[in-house]
Amino acid sequence: MDPAKSHLRDLLFGQMKAQILRTGIKLGVFVVIDTEPKSAEEIVTTLDIDPDHGYRLLRALSYLDVLTESNGMFSLTSAGEYLTEDHPHTFKDYFLFEVSQTNSSLWPHLPSSIEDGEQNTFVREFGEPLFDHLDSNPEVATLFNDGMESYSRLHGAEIQELLNGIEITEKSHVCDIGGGYGYLLCTLLFTHQSLTGTVFEQPEIVEHETQHLATEFGVADRCSYVAGDMFEAVPSADVYFLKHIIHDWNDTQAIQILTTIREHAPDDAQLVLIEHVLPESSSPHFASLYDMQMIVWTNGRERTPGEYASLLEQSGWEYNETTFDENDLLGAVKATTMPC
Ligand SMILES: C[S@@+](CC[C@H](N)C(=O)[O-])C[C@H]1O[C@@H](n2cnc3c(N)ncnc32)[C@H](O)[C@@H]1O
Repeated sequence: MDPAKSHLRDLLFGQMKAQILRTGIKLGVFVVIDTEPKSAEEIVTTLDIDPDHGYRLLRALSYLDVLTESNGMFSLTSAGEYLTEDHPHTFKDYFLFEVSQTNSSLWPHLPSSIEDGEQNTFVREFGEPLFDHLDSNPEVATLFNDGMESYSRLHGAEIQELLNGIEITEKSHVCDIGGGYGYLLCTLLFTHQSLTGTVFEQPEIVEHETQHLATEFGVADRCSYVAGDMFEAVPSADVYFLKHIIHDWNDTQAIQILTTIREHAPDDAQLVLIEHVLPESSSPHFASLYDMQMIVWTNGRERTPGEYASLLEQSGWEYNETTFDENDLLGAVKATTMPC
């Protein structure tokens, strides 16, 4: 087949593939197979699913290269291992977030949003902006927050690589603004054994179960969770991290957040934004795809290093540099307090 045609076919069938994977996750296929190869009969019996449909699902999952079949026995491929619950870098919950009903109901608004330039699909669909909707819908909030933790877990290695170049003295106090359940902070405290840190989050998250990661990484004695509104006030810290925060907001709101942090930071503070940073050139980049998700979910956008530098400099921060991980998927935009 003409490669152009098969390329289009693959794009079209992307949504079908995602639904097949979702079915495998939902029914527990990856949990049942886990580390031991299993026959189709064992799998369908354990899951109590229809044998014929079950086998057809396993066959399709093998085509998608998350399972492999050998002599009638199914095993997980290395991609399939990331879909298990207990993989340290599990992709499972982020996957379920992306294929959720909430997400699916937003994308049909993309054409009208592109046409009229109004970036409010959440309001069009649900009558309220994203974070208000999460406040009033605990099930969607859990889907979202679990998804964010999973996306952080997935990028664990890339983030460690990005943070290698950041000066953190062992005495520093670090603050993860909008840190979700605290995956980034807890991994930092795990790596730097005398560091202390704060996850700053909305009250709904802090009141919810937040300590599971501090316990998992054995850092509960050095980690605190503080509730508040990053538009109003934040704790004082030596180093601030904002991972996937500024891309949620338009320029005016982003400047307001960064200015609030500057007002509460000591004079020699550092600030690091971790984002899907767009390249300055027009070369194709994953961040341009994620930027569409920002239209659909938020009123923010993905930005280039120059655009981040401009926001930072309008908020009292001196832009230093942007570094990228090896696969060029994530960028760390680094800044320090602007000299008086
Ligand atoms: C896209 S998530 C990123 C979470 C986390 N940093 C990560 O990368 O997994 C955005 C986070 O910002 C938090 N947030 C939104 N509005 C906030 C506010 N006004 N003050 C503090 N946190 C806020 C949300 O609760 C959410 O956890």
